[in-house]
Amino acid sequence: TIYKASTTAPVNIAVVKYWGKRDPKLNLPTNSSLSVTLSQADLRTLTTATCSASYQGQEDSLILNGEPSDIKGARTQACLRELRAKRAALEAENPSLPKLSTLPLRIVSENNFPTAAGLASSAAGFAALVRAIADLYELPSSPTELSLIARQGSGSACRSLFGGYVAWRAGERDDGLDSKAVEVAPASHWPSMRALILVVSAAKKGVSSTSGMQQTVATSDLFKGRVANVVPVHMAAMEAAIKDRDFAKFAEVTMKDSNSFHACCADTYPPIYYMNDVSRAAVRAVQAINEAAGKTVAAYTFDAGPNAVIYYLEEDSAPVVGTFYNLLQSTDGWKDEAKSYSSTATQLDETTSTLLKEGVSRIIMTGVGEGPIKTDQH
Ligand code: DP6
Repeated sequence: TIYKASTTAPVNIAVVKYWGKRDPKLNLPTNSSLSVTLSQADLRTLTTATCSASYQGQEDSLILNGEPSDIKGARTQACLRELRAKRAALEAENPSLPKLSTLPLRIVSENNFPTAAGLASSAAGFAALVRAIADLYELPSSPTELSLIARQGSGSACRSLFGGYVAWRAGERDDGLDSKAVEVAPASHWPSMRALILVVSAAKKGVSSTSGMQQTVATSDLFKGRVANVVPVHMAAMEAAIKDRDFAKFAEVTMKDSNSFHACCADTYPPIYYMNDVSRAAVRAVQAINEAAGKTVAAYTFDAGPNAVIYYLEEDSAPVVGTFYNLLQSTDGWKDEAKSYSSTATQLDETTSTLLKEGVSRIIMTGVGEGPIKTDQH
């Protein structure tokens, strides 16, 4: 017998950023964070986990996008260890269950988007890994319980176990048992949320988030203020904005929190710069769109790289999508509907237009979506 489970898991993009670890080993964050889960129709990892007595004598294995990949890393091992321990406990309670916890695992995982796009693929990757093995082992664990495990793979992964609007509560305990993800609101609560991703190619590979955030914690004084005074205010305001479906508030907090995070990166010693000239052109474009609309219809946010993620509501597609489509029609990735909005473009200044035209290599049009989904694919 080959025991098997497959799942897909989504990407999420934070609107209140996780940046900083209070315990790098357990991957415990210095602050809470909040994200929007993006639609798996556009961005997802598909993972299949199998185990079998016929694999006995072999090692656990992982194939990532068709290539044999390292499964021995401390983070992956932490996830496998915890999942096996939960299965072993189940087997001890029910002696009639097959002893899957002792069998070698084979994991096969693939993304439906290019890894080179520099999108946080580790979040979807670890969420799918944990969900697939939990399903294989028929663990009764809730998404929140699994988030404690996925967190040890990659912090942001704990938020990809839910759809919609998701908070990662930092917690206070040294053992990390209260550092977990919870759903703030399902996607259906505010389904009109859209995201336009401007993929910007970086000249050289930047500092990884894992290492960058530890440098920030160690050297930035500004960061102390972010953790103590900025994030708590942003978390409360963001949760209220989502509950009230208040886009202007959502957008203001999203942009301010991105600014605060990148200011802390600049305050890191030596400084870290993830945003580049093209990123800053995207910021100016969003400002111009909002000014022309006479209200806030778009919000930018940037992670540990130059890509811009622009949140907007479906009803404001015309001014937002129209402006970028008008400028970047020949860029790959537009959905057909984008054409219909191009007549409502905001005029951007020459420098901003040129930077975006030359620097944006791909467009991803997506929106808020659901959490992991069981599948028969693979
Ligand atoms: C800027 O989750 O990739 O995207 O826990 O070390 O794997 P590790 O870090 P990771 O950091 C994500 C940082 C961020 C902000 C966010 O997603 O909240």
